[in-house]
Amino acid sequence: MPELRVIGEEMRPPAPPERRHLISIKDLAREDVERLLAIARTFESSLDREVKKLPALKGRLVVNLFYESSTRTSSSFELAAKRLSADTMSIKSAGSSMDKGESLKDTALTLGAYDPDVIVIRHPQIGAPHLVARATRAHVVNAGDGKHQHPTQALLDLYTIRAELGRIEGLHVAIVGDVMHSRVARSLTQALTLMGASVTLVGPPALLPRDVEVLGCDATTDIRAIADANIVYVLRMQRERMEAGANYVPSLREYAARWGITPERVRPGQKVMHPGPMNRGVEIDPRVADHRDALIESQVRAGLVTRMAVLYDLLTSGPVPVQVAAAVEVA
Ligand code: CP
Repeated sequence: MPELRVIGEEMRPPAPPERRHLISIKDLAREDVERLLAIARTFESSLDREVKKLPALKGRLVVNLFYESSTRTSSSFELAAKRLSADTMSIKSAGSSMDKGESLKDTALTLGAYDPDVIVIRHPQIGAPHLVARATRAHVVNAGDGKHQHPTQALLDLYTIRAELGRIEGLHVAIVGDVMHSRVARSLTQALTLMGASVTLVGPPALLPRDVEVLGCDATTDIRAIADANIVYVLRMQRERMEAGANYVPSLREYAARWGITPERVRPGQKVMHPGPMNRGVEIDPRVADHRDALIESQVRAGLVTRMAVLYDLLTSGPVPVQVAAAVEVA
């Protein structure tokens, strides 16, 4: 019979390192944001190379789990993981066992059995990323949970602003539209104030949240408040999150007339941003959306390098810009 040994305290394997997640901008300090933006900038130079793939995350598995529609976020996370040589699995609620009534916890446990390194999740329920973080051993990235948070959108917006205007601190950003239902507005306001910018929320009375002082910004229903802003950040009407039968605005035509961003309401040089998807002719006039002062395509491009930076940072425990730069050099 083999000898039984008691494993002493000192022989126990060391506790696994704490898993890091990106669930809310509130989890980040300014230095974290600076680090992520710096890594993203390092990756930017890889985009113009003939061979764009980097070996940084070879052998890692990134699962994209999307319970809500997405074009920009889902495609950029998938491409970001591929560009870093990670394996990817992309699962959408339609066509999966979620259609058959499987709970989020059981789906998370099922996917967790493959030992993914990162799970990127978008879900209509606030708190879904926390549930996945508890149910699996993966690092979790929130790709949008209800009207709560969309932290990588805020990071890519900061990246775009700094790339276009050279700074974030001291800028004034007007965020216009359906603030009430917007996770983008919530995350971005927190991110901008963290980085020293000021924010004014602008929209119809029923679409402005009541807790703006908690967010550390101003709020007004007067569209003329955008005049002084360096950046006008336009939001979509989030009809999928509105209570059925509730009248937040008299009509979309009335909304467009009173709060739509038209050429008459912006001045030359004033930058315009939109997280997408846009409803042209409702919250934004096509002439504004297509103008050279609109940064919308730059935002999409920034989404790729910012999400590469988030995946890289989570899986390598912080900045190794010299190694990353070297990897970019040899690519
Ligand atoms: N901005 C954003 O989250 O876009 P998608 O819904 O297309 O991902």
